Amino acid sequence: MSEKRSTLDKVMEVSLRRGLVFPTAEIYGGFAGVYDFGPIGSFLRENLINFWLNYFVKTEVDPPVYLVSGGTVLPFDVLKASGHVDHFVDPVVECPECKTEFRADHVIEDATGQFVEGLDEQELTRIIRENNIRCPNCDSELADVTIFNLMLATKVGGGKGKVAFLRPETAQIMFLDFKRTATSMRAKLPFGIAQVGSSYRNEISPRKGLIRLREFEQMEIEMFVDPVTLNDQPNFAEIEKVKIRLLTREGQDKEPQEIIEITADEAVKQNILPNQYFAYYLAKETVWYTRCGIPRDKFRFRHMKPEETPHYSGGNWDLEIELPRGEKAQIVEIVGNAYRQAYDLGNHAKHSGEDLSIDQDGEKLIAHVVEPSFGVDRSIHCILEHCFREKGIDRDWIWFKFPNVIAPISVEIFPLMRKDGMPETAKQIYTTLKKAGFNAIYDQAGSIGRRYARADEIGCPYCCTIDYTTLDDNTVTIRDRDTMKQVRVPTIELIDVLRQLLEEKIEFEEAGQPV
Ligand code: GLY
Repeated sequence: MSEKRSTLDKVMEVSLRRGLVFPTAEIYGGFAGVYDFGPIGSFLRENLINFWLNYFVKTEVDPPVYLVSGGTVLPFDVLKASGHVDHFVDPVVECPECKTEFRADHVIEDATGQFVEGLDEQELTRIIRENNIRCPNCDSELADVTIFNLMLATKVGGGKGKVAFLRPETAQIMFLDFKRTATSMRAKLPFGIAQVGSSYRNEISPRKGLIRLREFEQMEIEMFVDPVTLNDQPNFAEIEKVKIRLLTREGQDKEPQEIIEITADEAVKQNILPNQYFAYYLAKETVWYTRCGIPRDKFRFRHMKPEETPHYSGGNWDLEIELPRGEKAQIVEIVGNAYRQAYDLGNHAKHSGEDLSIDQDGEKLIAHVVEPSFGVDRSIHCILEHCFREKGIDRDWIWFKFPNVIAPISVEIFPLMRKDGMPETAKQIYTTLKKAGFNAIYDQAGSIGRRYARADEIGCPYCCTIDYTTLDDNTVTIRDRDTMKQVRVPTIELIDVLRQLLEEKIEFEEAGQPV
């Protein structure tokens, strides 16, 4: 029975059972498209965001990237100017019998394999009729396709109020804050503005897991650049030799599809990618997702087809991750990379009447924008599936091989026995580790083997056991999750050794005396 369940089912089961992810309002039957992170999942989410902030924002020197934290409710005018009011739509088709709503393009793609992105509602209706596509739920005839705006609207103020929207992306805040950021930070181009926060989209059919949510979190950067310097990214030399996996438009048309591996440098020289700023992010994303536990050969950047690309775009490449789904892998878009040219600042300048040009050495210009836009929840979903390890391969329980940098719990502390002063010593060590900033768990329940298994199940990389020898010589054992080997270290050195292990500055074998 258990062997038949998919990785997704197993991941969802352990997520619920061990406090990674819970359905929102579960006691009322849940609320489609909204999820909570539980006590363990919250640390995973926090670590992932901090790792992203460190890698993409805080350590960036030239150009600097400034962090902002903006409002989540935006006035109508902002989203009218951005194009969301008129163009942020999906085609929807309803079943008049069972009343289920579907994304019309997905229903067609699932039934015929035809790629129908960019077609209008009349064309989609025609394809449904011509192919006699029926309700995937109850096999009844479907209604005509209609167009549905994905924004969640609300009203602000008393009386009739004014229409406002929950923001559909964090990006608009960075455009709205561009001028204030430039003046308050005395910034010249190039510079970036980043934000991490919630966005909202009224998805027609949210899916199982964290892939398509109605409330979700984004990590976005808008990099503002003088267009004449787009091929002078100051740090390009640092990443130019990173090999990136690209699925070009030609590669997508081949059967089977052909992915090319090319250095960031060559991809710009051969005009495959639009500029160095753009390639810089694709290279950094490659390194970052690999460090997050996604195997390199399980993701690629796909060049959006013309019908998927907005008219103002100078290039859109999505980072897509492959998830195991039996015979046919599921491909999930995790990061959208877009060269948005001068569209956003130009549009907001026109609609607001505000001058959003910047004085660049005596010349006024509208900055061009390169935007990497990361989905937090989707990234976590893919990390959970890719770090999941089946029971029965190298141990008799399931486990997660989370990289140390994102592992929600870094260390668990166990007294070997519940007697002879071991719990007291273990609790003292646990308290010291918590106060030193470690995400730690104290566990004295059940056999030591069961406790190791429980720690593995939430991907905790190290377990520390207090035993009879501890009481004699003040040493403890550390057990390594991946190899299940153990070393013994003096208690006084524990914090330092754990830090070095977690930061991967030492090999496990060097951490202490082998047990
Ligand atoms: N800012 C791009 C997106 O949210 O998809």
